[in-house]
Amino acid sequence: MYIIHVASECAPVAKVGGLADVVSGLAWEHSIRGNDVEIILPKYDCMRYDQVWGLTNSYNDLWVPWFGGAVHCSVWFGEVHGRKCYFIDPHSNDNFFNRGTFYGCRDDVMRYAFFCKAALEFILKSGKQPDIIHCHDWQAGLLPVMLAEIYQHHGLWRQRVCYTIHNFKHQGIFGHDILAATGLGRPEHFFSPTQLRDDHNPSVLNCMKGGVVYSNFVTTVSPKHAWEARHSNQSHGLGGTLHVHQGKFGGVLNGVDYNAWNPELDGFLPARYGINNVDDKYKNKDALRDRFWLYKSEKPIISYIGRLDEQKGLDLICHAAHYALAHGAQFILLGSASNHAIHNQFAHLRNQLGQSVDCHIELGFNEELSHLIYAGSDMVIVPSVFEPCGLTQLIALRYGTVPIVRSVGGLADTVFDKDYSDVDLGMRNGFTFNDLNNAGLESAMSRAISLYYDYKEVFRHIMLNGMKADYSWNHPGAHYMNIYEMIKHK
Ligand code: ADP
Ligand code: GLC
Repeated sequence: MYIIHVASECAPVAKVGGLADVVSGLAWEHSIRGNDVEIILPKYDCMRYDQVWGLTNSYNDLWVPWFGGAVHCSVWFGEVHGRKCYFIDPHSNDNFFNRGTFYGCRDDVMRYAFFCKAALEFILKSGKQPDIIHCHDWQAGLLPVMLAEIYQHHGLWRQRVCYTIHNFKHQGIFGHDILAATGLGRPEHFFSPTQLRDDHNPSVLNCMKGGVVYSNFVTTVSPKHAWEARHSNQSHGLGGTLHVHQGKFGGVLNGVDYNAWNPELDGFLPARYGINNVDDKYKNKDALRDRFWLYKSEKPIISYIGRLDEQKGLDLICHAAHYALAHGAQFILLGSASNHAIHNQFAHLRNQLGQSVDCHIELGFNEELSHLIYAGSDMVIVPSVFEPCGLTQLIALRYGTVPIVRSVGGLADTVFDKDYSDVDLGMRNGFTFNDLNNAGLESAMSRAISLYYDYKEVFRHIMLNGMKADYSWNHPGAHYMNIYEMIKHK
């Protein structure tokens, strides 16, 4: 099958969070199964050019219709660890992708509306006839809309769209200007509640709703979150639309790319290890302590790695740092915030705790360092308010690092409490809590720390259970193939 992913991120070349890992992991899984897989991305000035091989100008004369005129684009081709990637490079005064940042611009919706239009124009003009276009998150939500409303009439009528929602929190809200820019026009049509009109604010349109309404199949990234999106407020207002389209909506649990995340092969680690030599993990713990000048003692290291966003339970992350230090553990944080107030909150925490020989707070994005922290830590915490899937706990499991998580979304589907889960003992792989407050978090952290000190052998079983579990792309890759097959024949 011929599959094209259209997304705003792909690891490791353009990565903000888990979306990047998923695009890259799923594309690889499908290509090793013998499919033809390509990825279309914006050509950002701030992407990691050192991760692209053989970047060449592959299509020079792409004119993308825009606001009654046209924007000239070049399309570049390069390989990202074997994945075939096309990068859209518009030449206009808007400088859509030369902003020194991936997101956070006032005209983000305009930027990605342009990206969708350019991706379709490129597919059409280069004569590509993919079977499936797999679109991700709000940034690609307008693609299926433009495909059905414009491009199918120009020759792209065979293509079917699978749309994956990684995060309902950001939906891409817009108005008349984008209808005019993209050539969709017809406000009277698109402002209908069955089309793109936002379910809660009738004066605006919604990219993600467009993705849901116009795609052939819609997924989110875990079964539990699919349920939450339908039956609780976790769809951030899209529940009604999902209800209407329930027949083509489901949850597929993400996988992890075990080529990139495998402690037996990981080139970023001073000591590689697996189930048979798990003690070598502790050489990484030593190296991690050396790197941050942490005291070498019997204490466990508890870490947080992730975006610093309200979604992740910010107050609980701060509380976890204080609680760990007060209860015989060391604490490491690697996180980046796109919001200044949140950055300052954690800069303050760093000032408060940074002098401690048991704590290190690193603010920023650092892929290489994250590998060492996953490997060198004993536990990670993921106290999210909501979590569509979560990859940090899945990566941690592979590295024998015991997750302590709030039981929501994909965290609930993948972490099974050592004491309270109803799965077999051999599958229990971490600690979970339900209540979104300090007491909830402490109930799990205290049990994890006590087990580490008092029942080392049992703690080791929990680690090994996690390392043995298969959260590769094997199962989800097959699941997505079934979805593609199903919609291809519709
Ligand atoms: P989300 O997509 O909501 O950010 P996930 O758990 O799905 O959360 O994925 C997060 C991914 O981003 C993981 O691969 C994690 O290791 C990585 N990551 C997040 N923040 C950082 C950071 N500051 N430095 C390095 N890697 C990070
Ligand atoms: C999102 C979610 C996260 C998920 C990731 C990849 O950003 O917040 O839970 O794992 O996308 O699907």
